[in-house]
Amino acid sequence: MPRAVSLFSGCGGSDAGVIAAGFDVVMANDILPYARDVYLANHPETDYRLGSVSEITAFPKAELLVGCYPCQGFSQGGVREPSRRINKLYLEFARALKAIKPKAFIVENVSGMVRANYEHLLKDQIKVFSEAGYDVKTSVLNAASYGVAQERKRIFIVGIKKTIRRRYKFPVPTHGPDTDNDFFSIRDAIGDLPEWPEGEFYEREFHWYYMSRDRRRDWGQPSKTIVANPRHMPLHPMSPVMEKVEHNVWKFADEGLARRFSYREAARLQGFAPNLVFPDTDAGSLLMRYTVVGNAVPPPLFQAVAEALPDIWD
Ligand SMILES: C[S@@+](CC[C@H](N)C(=O)[O-])C[C@H]1O[C@@H](n2cnc3c(N)ncnc32)[C@H](O)[C@@H]1O
Repeated sequence: MPRAVSLFSGCGGSDAGVIAAGFDVVMANDILPYARDVYLANHPETDYRLGSVSEITAFPKAELLVGCYPCQGFSQGGVREPSRRINKLYLEFARALKAIKPKAFIVENVSGMVRANYEHLLKDQIKVFSEAGYDVKTSVLNAASYGVAQERKRIFIVGIKKTIRRRYKFPVPTHGPDTDNDFFSIRDAIGDLPEWPEGEFYEREFHWYYMSRDRRRDWGQPSKTIVANPRHMPLHPMSPVMEKVEHNVWKFADEGLARRFSYREAARLQGFAPNLVFPDTDAGSLLMRYTVVGNAVPPPLFQAVAEALPDIWD
């Protein structure tokens, strides 16, 4: 089995995909205690190092390196400052790449990185990884096109060691228009779960910002993007339809009960296995559960990207 090292591993969304693609994840790392708790409750065999990546001085051998460094500087929801220090974490990824020298690597990040303001950061990443000896390809993929019940566009950066002389081709969509499969819907993902999972969803009021756009999709559609901040979590389809009043002002069409997706529903909509364990540890507040789920890469999407790597492992 080829080995993988994972950085910025969170609760293990990307790594669940890597494992499903046939890799042994020998080391994972994140700074968030509850991400570690969820990861180890589901993948106890991995050596998970809790702490900043910058403190890791030695990495194990591996054929694949994966990492999804944080995206605050790029994301559409977060503060957009191209120079924020956090955007430099790709240099930590590059440090690991140069130390491990894997045959291939996969990076995932928010698609906002392709916008003009951030282009220089993307270019710099490609330059740094190319100079480390990799043939680098990038593409923006939508999770819904790969069997995830959610619209989620993310950029993938994939590199194969130049000396291997093999090209990477991104996987073709398997779901949606021009494929044999319909998109997975919210019903497919969470239709069997209770309608009102007391204590598992964020109950604060819907403030004006929340009501500034349509937050609801029907049962038969893929969900809107699952985010890490529960205040902005999309509505469960049991909620009333939203109607536009004017620019940036929406209202519920009737007074029926409305609620956001629970963290467990959000995990299903991210494509995690239905039996994903959320351990009841000290770090496991409701907010933290939403955070680790919303930060994750949908496992089926990461699996599709990993499976598209050529067979270079012998
Ligand atoms: C986009 S999320 C990764 C999600 C993960 N790949 C998954 O699929 O579940 C980015 C992660 O980087 C972590 N992080 C931020 N700064 C870090 C640092 N200095 N060292 C290690 N991890 C860090 C965050 O806690 C967060 O979990």
